[in-house]
Amino acid sequence: RLTIRDDLPSRPISPDLWGVFFEDINFSADGGLYAELVQNRSFEYTDIKVSGWGPLTAWSVDGDVELRTDAPLSESAPHYARIDAGSSLTNHGFDGISLIADSDYTFSVFARSANGGRLQVSLGTASESTAADVHINTSEWTRYEVVLHATQTAIDGTLSLRAEEDAIDVDLVSLFPNRVFRDSDNGMREDLAQAIADLRPRFVRFPGGCVSHGSGLDNMYRWPDTIGELQSRVPNFNVWGYHQSFGIGYLEYFRFCEQIGATALPVLAAGVCCQNSEGGQHAIPDEHMEDYIAEVLGLVEFANGDASTEWGARRTALGHPVPFGLRYLAIGNEDEITPDFRDRFARIYAALRETHPEIVVIGTVGPAAFGADYDDGWEFARQLEVPIVDEHSYKAPKWLFEHVDRYDSYDRSGPAVYLGEYGSKANRMLNALAEAAYMTGLERNGDIVKLASYAPLLAKTHRTQWTPDLIYFDNQRVMPSLNYHVQSMFSTTAGDGSRAVEISEAPTFVRPRQTYSTVAVEATGFRVAFQGVSLNGIVAPDVTADTKDGRVVLPLRSETADYVVRARATALERTTDHEIGFSLHFGAVGSPNSWEWAFGTW
Ligand code: AHR
Repeated sequence: RLTIRDDLPSRPISPDLWGVFFEDINFSADGGLYAELVQNRSFEYTDIKVSGWGPLTAWSVDGDVELRTDAPLSESAPHYARIDAGSSLTNHGFDGISLIADSDYTFSVFARSANGGRLQVSLGTASESTAADVHINTSEWTRYEVVLHATQTAIDGTLSLRAEEDAIDVDLVSLFPNRVFRDSDNGMREDLAQAIADLRPRFVRFPGGCVSHGSGLDNMYRWPDTIGELQSRVPNFNVWGYHQSFGIGYLEYFRFCEQIGATALPVLAAGVCCQNSEGGQHAIPDEHMEDYIAEVLGLVEFANGDASTEWGARRTALGHPVPFGLRYLAIGNEDEITPDFRDRFARIYAALRETHPEIVVIGTVGPAAFGADYDDGWEFARQLEVPIVDEHSYKAPKWLFEHVDRYDSYDRSGPAVYLGEYGSKANRMLNALAEAAYMTGLERNGDIVKLASYAPLLAKTHRTQWTPDLIYFDNQRVMPSLNYHVQSMFSTTAGDGSRAVEISEAPTFVRPRQTYSTVAVEATGFRVAFQGVSLNGIVAPDVTADTKDGRVVLPLRSETADYVVRARATALERTTDHEIGFSLHFGAVGSPNSWEWAFGTW
């Protein structure tokens, strides 16, 4: 039996608690969320990370095609291809170009031809394709665009460019589905972006992770390289072993946040790389720190400044005069707390405090949260009075179940916590439940845990560098994990305050482990939600469990009339000695929208 302690005050829950963390890992950006269908569209792939990769990766050549860099379209991405008359160049996309029958695709290219030429463009498969002619009528780089209509659904589509009559130079060869998320220019894949939006994240952290600080100074993520015309963005290798076109750059990240009603949470390197104690150039040299600090301050101006400021004017020129309302900025990601880190973080932090005291800076407490650097990181953050620090914890279910009360005893005088990366190492039901259990502890302590995001968010099947992930996808499908549904349970039913409860007559457990959070939703008038997670047992207020078809079924109804039992009854039960049955139920009781999801057993 569970009684809400009306005599005790509600503990506020951070309104930003549940968010997502997008990192370009597992082909999450190019070949993933970014709707571009042409791989290596600017011929800038290199073998820095992948042996054998080069400017013609993902392309095949029929006839004579020359790679050149003289008089390029852009000095930032200098390679282009010269297709000789009668020759062709074919792009194979990211493991094939995915086509949907009766859909339109916008092909575009920058091209030039000394004497004028005709580029025949065809989209399709070996058995069926659609073609169009593009007349290249100048020797200056010019952008051409044509809409192609796919007549069949295919996963192995290709895009071919054939030069007729005269040689043609091509660069930034692009193909976008006409349906993209919110119809944005240079848009995102609709189904994937929608799966993220459906989580109703309060914030989106980007672009990493390790991607933010990079594996060396040449690989550190520099936000100014990622804005502006696509041909001017400075591509780079990805620390996870592939390539970044930066087609999704800082403007697109901010725009996405705006579109889904999430606050942006960018992470910039603290002037050091991953991990900065290693040899080589792993920290920005002292003489360049001033410029780097200006770059950090410039990001705040880019997001929030008006058109009278340098970076606000840049944003306006890029078509977004309205400021993005940046509130948080994370500096550093899992960095080792070395003297170089301390020095650079302290300088960046001091500059931000002085110039932008309105921005909440999020620090970091080391690479293995709860490991070697963890205490050092906390001590350093306390010394500097950093308002929030980023903790990471990838832990087995056992650990998560055993630490559901971890934040109960955190010092309320701060720093507060951003649990920026967590997950329980697999996508099985037990893992999802363990995360749900742990999340009750985050929510119950939503006054000190201000933000939390599972990691990583996206993963392209067969292209993963890290598992488990929250949402799997291939070129045509989106496959949310069980863990995704747990995230969704919490984020779509978030509350304003955590209520104290008293549990009596608890079920008898073989090994009692239970956790709960009881949240009030003051604004909407209906008040309390309860969730319980228990290993070898059931926790639910005033309900009895019923075993049906080998599954535990919790009636989603409270007998305490005052309170609505909603959303999150999570239960599992040992059904035999060898088998564990799990059911995950959630719904809104007393509302016509009640629903229940039950997952199978194993
Ligand atoms: O989430 C994957 C990686 O885990 C992140 O890039 C890094 O911050 C952490 O080590």
